Amino acid sequence: MNELKIVVDSAKTAFEQAGTPADLENAKALFLGKSGRITELMKGMAALSVDEKKSRGAAINLAKQAIEAALNQRRQALADAELQAQLRAEALDVTLPGRQRGPGGLHPVSLTLERIEAIFGSMGFEVAQGPEIETDWFNFTALNTPEDPPARSMHDTFYVEGGSAAAPNLLRTHTSPMQIRHAVQHVKKYRAAAGAGSSSEALFSGSMPEIRVIAPGRTYRVDSDATHSPMFHQCEGLWVGENVSFKDLKYVLTDFCRALFESDDLVLRFRPSFFPFTEPSAEIDIQFQSGALAGRWLEVGGSGQVHPNVIRNMGLEPEKFIGFAFGMGVDRFTMLRYGVNDLRLFFDGDIRFLSQFQ
Ligand code: DAH
Repeated sequence: MNELKIVVDSAKTAFEQAGTPADLENAKALFLGKSGRITELMKGMAALSVDEKKSRGAAINLAKQAIEAALNQRRQALADAELQAQLRAEALDVTLPGRQRGPGGLHPVSLTLERIEAIFGSMGFEVAQGPEIETDWFNFTALNTPEDPPARSMHDTFYVEGGSAAAPNLLRTHTSPMQIRHAVQHVKKYRAAAGAGSSSEALFSGSMPEIRVIAPGRTYRVDSDATHSPMFHQCEGLWVGENVSFKDLKYVLTDFCRALFESDDLVLRFRPSFFPFTEPSAEIDIQFQSGALAGRWLEVGGSGQVHPNVIRNMGLEPEKFIGFAFGMGVDRFTMLRYGVNDLRLFFDGDIRFLSQFQ
């Protein structure tokens, strides 16, 4: 029986040495396969007597069972090892910190817009919003801009689908169309309050509260470099009443700029200029008296006395009403406020730049 023990021992050794399930199956074939050691031993019993067969057969069976037990044990061990390896490979380190998403904040241009609205709000100005896709009428014609070039080519305009050939739609090139939109609504309201006798055709010459409004928002022109972006921000202002003067406009704008930059060390200059919707017209320049920009005149917008044709397009009688308007570059103000020298930084969306304003 020593021979059987040797067979069982060598099977156990072969199984132990099998490093993978495939190796193990090969080793199994050597002992339990069709021409394996156990099968060979069975065959070798043919010549024995009945009694010898009985005891020899029982002994071989025991050996076979021992080999099968060793095989199953090794199979289980290899499966466990494989599972452990897989668990190790797919392990998650739950102690790693998650990807941070810091608190959000307002864009520097939005911060400036908020401040502009707060300052003009404190001076009794309403804030109006209007469409960015405009009609030719509101963007140009109603603002006394004639049909023919060169007046309209001053703005290289983005025309969009819709509208007609004679009256195309476009992305507004400035916030000035809001002068007309807002004034028309204002006049409509007080014309209704004035009751019968004031035909909606006739220019309004009744009494109404002054129009005092700003209209901030996005504007568009075909233009792109360090100081021009095809999309930019303006803030329009309009002040119409029976007794308003350029002096009031200068006073309001000077106060506004000093409040915006939190400095009284700042002067304004109104430089004669031309805009079709104002007469006279002036460019607004500011000059800081101290600090990094001291002494330089910086252009921040346009202004003027609203042209009588524009007053008429608002539905108002120009003999009775007089108005002053201004349009300022919000991005420019933001650059000056924060000392940014390339406008494109505002629209690149680089979080390293933007997070500096929080
Ligand atoms: N709309 C002008 C522009 O975009 C700016 C402007 C000038 C607005 C004079 C005004 C104004 O209201 O009175 O260049």
